[in-house]
Amino acid sequence: KPRIFSGIQPSGGLTLGNYLGALKRFVEKQDEGIETIYCLVDLHAITVWQDPDKLRQQTREAAAAFLAAGIDPKRSVLFNQSQVSAHAELGWIFNCVARLGWMNRMTQFKDKVGKNSENASLGLYAYPSLMAADILLYHATMVPVGEDQKQHVELTRDIAAKFNHDFGVDFFPAPEPVIEGAATRVMSLRDGTRKMSKSDPSDASRINLTDDADTIAAKIRKAKTDPEPLPETLDGLKDRPEARNLVNIYAALSGKMPEAVLAEFAGQGFGLFKPVLADIAVATLAPISAEMGRLMADPAEIDRILGEGADRAEPIARPILNRTLDILGMVRRG
Ligand code: TYM
Repeated sequence: KPRIFSGIQPSGGLTLGNYLGALKRFVEKQDEGIETIYCLVDLHAITVWQDPDKLRQQTREAAAAFLAAGIDPKRSVLFNQSQVSAHAELGWIFNCVARLGWMNRMTQFKDKVGKNSENASLGLYAYPSLMAADILLYHATMVPVGEDQKQHVELTRDIAAKFNHDFGVDFFPAPEPVIEGAATRVMSLRDGTRKMSKSDPSDASRINLTDDADTIAAKIRKAKTDPEPLPETLDGLKDRPEARNLVNIYAALSGKMPEAVLAEFAGQGFGLFKPVLADIAVATLAPISAEMGRLMADPAEIDRILGEGADRAEPIARPILNRTLDILGMVRRG
């Protein structure tokens, strides 16, 4: 039976990249009637230092973003990772399954630490094995993510296969990364070769879910582009990363194929395209940000929803962890 698991780090405000690459698709999967489990991965967030007050605030804000975007806590399980301790426990077990060689190939770790790995936390290095635990703890079969998480989901498959092989069991299923749509990799508005990211020092590089209409319009107006008009086919966007990014964003926001967007705007310059893009971005994000504001006025209610989500996640996760402990040969209390 298909089961979806995915997560978002509450390590800063969410961006248009998180929305189009993840959140919007999480809602679509829920609305298709598939069993969906979504997690605010606070244990992942602390792999780099987080101010405790901000972490609390950002966790609630991320929960508010899920709810405002259309996640229904009755139909989806929505919770934060640290409330279900089985994540950390299975994460440790997978630290003993994953190989150093595998971790050394993780491009996200290498991109994050650059040449200065001596000062990175051990948790940042082990991050993908905790992510494997998140997914496999629910025997999830599908993991909707943006392009940047593909390698981590593939590592999850390797960990599942090695565990099964090492213990002669057929216990953990191999989950599929689900990477669909026009915006699986939303790029920076300042540099079309870099991913739009909450950690980019330039706020102009991203659209935040909490930006107001004027800010969104101004950021799109100032987005880096080129002087050429839009081409007729996708081929014409090949060496134009900034132009391609804006077309993909428009496609994802409007639910059209990028080809259809080009058919509509071919021959037009960005002077015309940008205001249209800004309009649809504002029309999509303004109601979400307004609803987030409303929800954030009652943090106790958000905490209650997260607690209820954890109460529903726990009875799925705990038996799978217990079975794992049995397989490993851990002597357990009767
Ligand atoms: P995180 O918090 O960096 O991002 C959350 C989700 O948003 C997607 N995303 C993007 N998609 C398109 N364009 C972008 N510019 C962009 N930026 C981010 C990410 O691909 C992701 O789907 N390791 C994960 C969190 C995690 C997780 C998991 C995910 C922990 N455990 C288990 C799935 C399953 C992460 O850091 O995502």
